[in-house]
Amino acid sequence: MCGIVGYVGRRQAAPILVEGLHRLEYRGYDSAGLATPEAGAFRVIKTEGRVQQLRNLIKEEIPATIGIAHTRWATHGEPSDANAHPHLDASGRIALVHNGIIENADRLRAQLTAEGVVFASDTDTEALAHLIGRSGAPTLEEKVREALSRVEGTYGIVVLDLDDPDHLVVARNGSPIVLGIGESEMFVASDVAALVRHTQQVVYLDDGELAVVRATEFHTSTLAVESSPVVKSPTTVDLVVDDYELGGSADFMSKEIHEQPTALGRALSGRLNERFATAHLGGINMDPRELRAIRRVKFLGCGSSYYAGQMGAQLVEELARIPADAEPASEFRYRNPVVEADTLYVALSQSGETLDTLAAAQELKRKGGQLLGVVNVVGSAIARECGSGIFLHAGPEVSVASTKALTNTATSLAMLGLLLGRVRDLSTADGKRIVAGLRRLPEQVAEILAQEHAVAEVAARFADTRSMFFVGRVRGWPVAREGAQKLKEISYVHAEAYQASELKHGPLALIDNTMPTVIIVPDDELLSKNIGTIEEIKARSGAVIAVTNAELPEGLADAELRVPRNETELDPILFTIPLQLFAYHLAAKLGRDIDRPRNLAKSVTVE
Ligand code: AGP
Repeated sequence: MCGIVGYVGRRQAAPILVEGLHRLEYRGYDSAGLATPEAGAFRVIKTEGRVQQLRNLIKEEIPATIGIAHTRWATHGEPSDANAHPHLDASGRIALVHNGIIENADRLRAQLTAEGVVFASDTDTEALAHLIGRSGAPTLEEKVREALSRVEGTYGIVVLDLDDPDHLVVARNGSPIVLGIGESEMFVASDVAALVRHTQQVVYLDDGELAVVRATEFHTSTLAVESSPVVKSPTTVDLVVDDYELGGSADFMSKEIHEQPTALGRALSGRLNERFATAHLGGINMDPRELRAIRRVKFLGCGSSYYAGQMGAQLVEELARIPADAEPASEFRYRNPVVEADTLYVALSQSGETLDTLAAAQELKRKGGQLLGVVNVVGSAIARECGSGIFLHAGPEVSVASTKALTNTATSLAMLGLLLGRVRDLSTADGKRIVAGLRRLPEQVAEILAQEHAVAEVAARFADTRSMFFVGRVRGWPVAREGAQKLKEISYVHAEAYQASELKHGPLALIDNTMPTVIIVPDDELLSKNIGTIEEIKARSGAVIAVTNAELPEGLADAELRVPRNETELDPILFTIPLQLFAYHLAAKLGRDIDRPRNLAKSVTVE
């Protein structure tokens, strides 16, 4: 949730650190800080607030060519100058930035306090800084190892020692750390977004690894006190700095919504096979016999990735006639799930770093489950844990609100359903129908986006609303859930998703002229049921916004958000798009900070 940047090299560190933090601000943004060595002490500049506030505090050139920096999303201790990272040990000779949560921090704090250590912050991180500083080990690397052996929890850390200020020590356990390899300079970050301006050559640390990073070399090893070397070679990331720029867009959410036709094109490229009316998913290392042996499919993810999983479950059941469902990874991991040998488990994650999804994947592997990953970020923890699967190719998603990643996830799951269907009973004709439908998606998404102005007008009409229902049936149900989620997270307007069929079993009591309902109305076998629901709502003076590709009776809905026709199985993918625009424009009308919704961060790498 927070962002880490480190630098060692030949240039002044501070501008590189601040620019890196700026790139990571989407991951955490309630405070920011940096530390560099200067004249035998650390110069620490930190502040509550945005990276720009940190920038404003840097009034002069800082000569140091090594330093560490952090942007924070508070977990332990409120956002404040004192709680901002970096944290120093009691001697002031060790500086530390940390992502993750130290679970035994209270115990460590009590022990350290009893030993006379005075704490300067309320954070869990500071305890680790003191442990490192108090270690009697001869080198920073060994001090860090020794201190971490007393820590329970998750961390990605970067440590700098005033007594040895030519290198950084970094370590990872459950929170991402990546090294960037430059010409006589090295970068460290929690996300490649902070590195791509400087280098495309990166090394991902795995959990349980430590690295000593100097300007011209790095050494990786296991974290254990009795460590052993780990050989790691750099990989090339195909991201460039423009991927993280706004270009002409007002914010990243708008940019990413409008990137969807291109992003979808990338997800589909080379993966549709007209001749055999199927999908070609090279990352799934299973032959037809193995695919046929799958008796059940279970999708696991959090938030929007979970809702995309619900869409996927519906698609797999329809196309392959295999029982399929989706479950929040955050629940699955804690309920000691029964893992079946002939079930295919699919972990879904844009970031590839969501801790709950990663933990679910690890639990599945430990129990011998068959596991695939459907992930956007190449090299991420979940992608590596799963080993095989489907990359989304959505490009970097910066906005907290997921849009293009959700669309590419649902589309990838449609291709998985097609593949599973075609090794079973899905006919060639139906396979061809789905292939053609998938091919039409990018153009149809562009068609929806071209109506943005009309959606914005509808959103403006409902901007005074304090609460809304989002309802849908079967294919429309995950669409309604995703629509409500999008509205909640960026506009702070209460939105409740319900199965349309369940309205009359209770929630209908809430309908009156202050409670509008967004209803998903595909022109499918459930059309008349959905028209009936609209009539029930209208009879109670509720306003109705219909997202539809059907010809509804004149005046039935108070507003319509139109969607082009495709194959009904693929409807959820298209019906989600107007709801992104609806949430976006309603939030914009309310003056919300769209890319930085309150209390939320882009990837949830803590519990
Ligand atoms: C989406 O708009 C949300 N910000 C959030 O629900 C997100 O989808 C969820 O945290 C999962 O993230 P992931 O896909 O990176 O694992």
